[in-house]
Amino acid sequence: MSVARESWGTRIGFIMAAAGSAVGLGNIWKFPYVAGENGGGAFLLIYIGCIVLFGLSIVMAELLVGRMAQRTPVAAFREVAGRGWSLVGGMGVVTAFIILSFYIVVGGWTIAYMLYTVDGALASTDSASLERVFTELTGGTWMPLVYAAVFMALVAGVVLGGVGKGIERAAKLLMPLLFVILLVLVARSVTLPGAGEGIAFYLTPDFSRVSGETFTAAIGQAFFSLSLGMGAMLTYGSYMPRDHNLPADATAVVVLDTLIAILAGFMVLPAMFAAGMEPGSGGAGTTFMVLPAVFDAMPGGPIFGFSFFLLLTVAALTSAVSLLETVVCYFVDEYGASRRGATAGSALVCFLIGIPASLSFGLMSDVKIFGRTFFNLLDFLSSSITLPLGGLLTALCVGWALGPRAIRAIGNDGRIAVPWAGVWLFVLRFVAPIGIGWILIQGLFF
Ligand code: PHE
Repeated sequence: MSVARESWGTRIGFIMAAAGSAVGLGNIWKFPYVAGENGGGAFLLIYIGCIVLFGLSIVMAELLVGRMAQRTPVAAFREVAGRGWSLVGGMGVVTAFIILSFYIVVGGWTIAYMLYTVDGALASTDSASLERVFTELTGGTWMPLVYAAVFMALVAGVVLGGVGKGIERAAKLLMPLLFVILLVLVARSVTLPGAGEGIAFYLTPDFSRVSGETFTAAIGQAFFSLSLGMGAMLTYGSYMPRDHNLPADATAVVVLDTLIAILAGFMVLPAMFAAGMEPGSGGAGTTFMVLPAVFDAMPGGPIFGFSFFLLLTVAALTSAVSLLETVVCYFVDEYGASRRGATAGSALVCFLIGIPASLSFGLMSDVKIFGRTFFNLLDFLSSSITLPLGGLLTALCVGWALGPRAIRAIGNDGRIAVPWAGVWLFVLRFVAPIGIGWILIQGLFF
C-alpha cells in the first residue's frame, strides 16, 4: 500500500469518501439516544461546542499528518514526529478493533430491520409492540449473531475484493439519497401530534441537566461521529494531493457530519415524544423503536422504511470499511502480512469479540464489568477514552512536535492561504489538550 499511492481524483471525491467514513451509525443510531439521555438541548449545545473547539482542528491535524507522511497511521506518526509518537497510531489500531466489534452488532440490526420492513413486522405505531420487536431481535442468541456475521462479511468483502472504488461510487450516489430521505422523515416527525414538546426538549438547553457526564458523552460522541482519534482520517489524508485546500475540505466533512447528526436528532426525538416515550428511555434501541412509528404515519411508509434502512446499512458499511481498513493496513504495512490473511484474521477476531457484545442484550445482559454490559464497555472504552485520548495526543504531536512545520505544510508552503493557521496552532497546543484533558480526567475519576 505504500508503493505508488493512489490519490483522490477530485475534491468532491475526497469529501465524499471522508464523509462516508464519518457519516454512519454514529449519526443516526447513536447521536439521538445519547442526546436524549443527556438532556437534549444542553447536550446539543455542548456537542457543537466540542466540534467547533476541538473537532475541526484535530480533523485538520490528522489529515495533515497523513498527507505529510503518505503512510498508514503507525508509520506516519513515526515518520513525521519520531518513534514515540507511533504509539498514537498503535492505540488507533486497537481502538478500531474495539469499535468494529460492537459496530457490526448494530450493523446487523439495520439489516434485520430492512427485512422487517418487507415482511411487515414493523407495521405498527404502538410503542409497546415496537419495543417488543426490538427486544425480541436483540435479545435472541443466534439471529443477531447471524446478522452481525453477514454485516462483517460484507465489510470484509469490500476491503478484500478491492471493490472500494465501486462502493465509493455507490456511496457518492446513495449518500445524497439518504440525506433526502432524512429530510422527509424529519418533516414527518416534527409534525406528528405531540412532537412540539420533543422539539422544545431538543432546542431548549436545560442546564440543570448538565453534569460532568454530559461533557464526557458529548466529546466521545463528537470523536466517534467524526471517525477521529484513531487514524481513519489520517489514512484519508494520506491520499490527499498537496494542492488540495485541506482546511476547506476538512470543514466540509465536519459540517456534513454534524448536520446529519443534528437532523437525525430532529427525526428521532420529536417522534419519541409523540409516541409518549421518555427521552433517554430507549437506550441503544431508540432509533429502531421510534422510526417505524414515523414510517407508519406516512403514505408509502414501508417504502420509506425499506429505503431508509437500506441506506443506513450502506452508510454503516462505508464507516465500518474505514475501521477494518485501518487494521488491515497496519498488519500489511508493518508486518508484511498478506491482505487476504490480514482481512480474514481481523474480521474473525472482531466477530469473536462481537459475540459477547451482541449477547449483552440477551443472555449476558446481567453480566456487568465496571458496572457496564460488555457492549457498553466497548463503547465506553473507545468513545470516552481512547478516541479523545488519541485526539489529544494528535493535537500535541502536531501542535508541539511539528509546530511551525505544520503551519507550512497545511498551506502547502505558502501556495494556499490559511489565514487562521495561527489560531489553529494555538488550539492544538493549548485549547484542545487542556479542554480534552480536563474532560477525560473528570470523566474517569469523578
Ligand atoms: N464515524 C462513524 C459513525 O459515525 C464510526 C467510526 C468511528 C468510523 C471511528 C471510523 C472510525 O458511524
